[in-house]
Amino acid sequence: MRNLPKVLGLIVAATCFASIWTSCEKPATDAHLVATEIDSLKKQASLAYVPGTGEIMNGIVQPHHYKLWLAGHNSNWKLAAYEAGLLNGGFKRIEKYHAGSKTAQAVPMIYPELAAINKAIESKDRDKFDKEFVALTKMCNICHQATGYDFNIILVPGKPAFENQQF
Ligand code: HEC
Repeated sequence: MRNLPKVLGLIVAATCFASIWTSCEKPATDAHLVATEIDSLKKQASLAYVPGTGEIMNGIVQPHHYKLWLAGHNSNWKLAAYEAGLLNGGFKRIEKYHAGSKTAQAVPMIYPELAAINKAIESKDRDKFDKEFVALTKMCNICHQATGYDFNIILVPGKPAFENQQF
């Protein structure tokens, strides 16, 4: 049979074509694309920056606690309300970025103190503000003790540290 090589060639070609065709079927391609996309997203997520608790304390909580004192103690109520909001935001970030951690679980202890500060600000009562600020600061330290950072002792500020801002 003279045509045998030709026939065999055709069979091989058809088999190849069929295998390419099936491997290119849409569902398989979609699944592969989705898997690649998931891998890439996982990689991106693992590289995303997450601020540490210490960074949030140092960069957000401590300066706003300070500025809150300067503003409230000087009866600058609008600024005090603003600073109290930003201080609150620091604690919210701990709950968001460190959900489930010991520190995040302890965060709610500070909210009643912040609420009391906000009340003093709303009523523009400086004596009440000063008193609530001491209670707030005490709670900062209670949490530091509860989380094993008792050496981080927070004080009611003395002299202003921010000479480039009016309080
Ligand atoms: C929910 C518990 C909690 C509360 C409430 C809390 N802290 Fe902290 N704080 C921590 C923990 C935990 C650390 C140590 C974090 C670390 O080093 O990773 C810390 C660390 C700090 C530091 C050290 C940062 C540094 O770089 O020296 C400062 C300052 C600080 N807190 C300020 C405050 C102030 C001010 C308040 C109150 C307005 C407060 N914290 C309330 C848990 C708390």
